[in-house]
Amino acid sequence: MATMGSLIGLVNRIQRACTALGDHGGGDTAFSSLWDALPSVAVVGGQSSGKSSVLESIVGRDFLPRGSGIVTRRPLVLQLYRIDEGQPEYAEFSHLPRRKFTDFAMVRKEIQDETDRVTGQTKQISPIPIHLSIYSSNVVNLTLIDLPGLTKVAVEGQPESIVQDIESMVRSYIEKPNCIILAISPANQDIATSDAIKISRDVDPTGDRTFGVLTKLDLMDKGTNALDVLEGRSYRLQHPWVGIVNRSQADINRNVDMVLARQKEREYFASSPDYGHLSSKMGSEYLAKLLSKYLESVIRARIPSIIALINKSIDELESELDHLGRPVAVDEGAKLYTILELCRAFDKIFKEHLE
Ligand code: GDP
Ligand code: NA
Ligand code: MG
Repeated sequence: MATMGSLIGLVNRIQRACTALGDHGGGDTAFSSLWDALPSVAVVGGQSSGKSSVLESIVGRDFLPRGSGIVTRRPLVLQLYRIDEGQPEYAEFSHLPRRKFTDFAMVRKEIQDETDRVTGQTKQISPIPIHLSIYSSNVVNLTLIDLPGLTKVAVEGQPESIVQDIESMVRSYIEKPNCIILAISPANQDIATSDAIKISRDVDPTGDRTFGVLTKLDLMDKGTNALDVLEGRSYRLQHPWVGIVNRSQADINRNVDMVLARQKEREYFASSPDYGHLSSKMGSEYLAKLLSKYLESVIRARIPSIIALINKSIDELESELDHLGRPVAVDEGAKLYTILELCRAFDKIFKEHLE
């Protein structure tokens, strides 16, 4: 029987194939329903709350542009594929299909350059996503989406509409019932003013698919702690809150690497008089495991409805391929075949899971 990991891997491949075909879920084909049925994880929160930093820790790699101000200006759809130990790790952009990136500093640069290609070197934003796949033995199979930060005022060089534009863009991702929301709030601000909580409460009032993440615990005023939030007394969600200590700007400037950052984070919780008793349920590594476990349970619960959708997709594809007597781009035909193959493999594995 196939493992759950390979099942999530297949979900990722179908998402990528749908993307390659230009089907982002806008239409009403079985494909777009399939796309909508596949779970993914999106980060939301105010500007500089630590969204990109949290994503980097989950991936266990330094590759995202981070910093103060509006750094993330286009959605980044990030697909993680777990490969065997010892296999070379690499990244690939859908806009540069034949180039394998092995240097993650170059991945960061390409995200910045590709952002600028669409928005110019301004503080403007664009809803056109960048698609990046990472193949590594250190990741769990997941689709993650990094989004521009919510903001309250336009700054110099931004149109007045930017506040609303960002909110609409974020909402378009997180309102999908299959989107798992990582709601990022910084611990050094009052949780009652959290943009992340405000918008996720709107789209997920029961908190079933929202994970509360509290960053910057190290930056709280001396003599205060975040136990009311972390223990669920300030704002209750279905899932437990996870506290995080990411790299500070000074750490980033000093090139503190991921391994050291995680070690420092572990030590922070283990030695903390406030959070010591929670230390096994805090930190980036725990968050990654929690998410992966939840994602598996979601996929498992949806297997029957996904099988129905896949069969519908296979029917549609087969009839589309039957009609390929009409002139069709070679590329398009090849993509359809690829997706059809994936759907069949997917269908087979899902059925095995039901047995
Ligand atoms: P984003 O705008 O939400 O994507 O936030 P970034 O991940 O780009 O982080 C914004 C700034 O906050 C960067 O300078 C980070 O170094 C800093 N930062 C993020 N999380 C933490 C944290 O847990 N502790 C500290 N000290 N700084 C953090
Ligand atoms: Na930022
Ligand atoms: Mg960011």
